Amino acid sequence: MEPLFQLPARLSKTAQYKSFLERYLPYMEGEDDAIAAMANTAAALHEAFHFFWVGFYLVKDAQWLSLGPFQGSPACSRIKRGHGVCGTAWAEARTLIVPDVNAFPGHIACSSHSRSEIVVPILNPARKVLGVIDVDSDHLDAFDDHDRQGLEAVARRIAENL
Ligand code: SME
Repeated sequence: MEPLFQLPARLSKTAQYKSFLERYLPYMEGEDDAIAAMANTAAALHEAFHFFWVGFYLVKDAQWLSLGPFQGSPACSRIKRGHGVCGTAWAEARTLIVPDVNAFPGHIACSSHSRSEIVVPILNPARKVLGVIDVDSDHLDAFDDHDRQGLEAVARRIAENL
């Protein structure tokens, strides 16, 4: 059997995210366990998009994010509010797309191979940040508005579990 989230070759990014969400949202139906939801989400995104690193950081207390389920190499386990791309996306409660991580002041390098990054906040209905989805690429300028829209849809689904 083909891996469930493997995407057909040569789709546009719009079609890739459309196809991904058409499989992902039904797959997640009825999932009510936060760790299971995040673990399968990281694996599904990795299988579909072959991201260099994809995973979750969760708000632990007023000051810190803590590493959650992910796919990729071991990464920093704690990130302070307002620090790095993840801590800044948390503090500003908005998606950050960083085309060149070396040009982002305070970027936290978990891997020297990471070149660009997108961080999407997971918001509750009151727009309080519960955590973030972090995706790294080993290519410059890998992420755009299609990634933002697609990953924000994933974040809305994960918010239901947190
Ligand atoms: N680069 C992130 C840290 C997390 S790793 O990329 C997995 C940041 O600057 O917040």
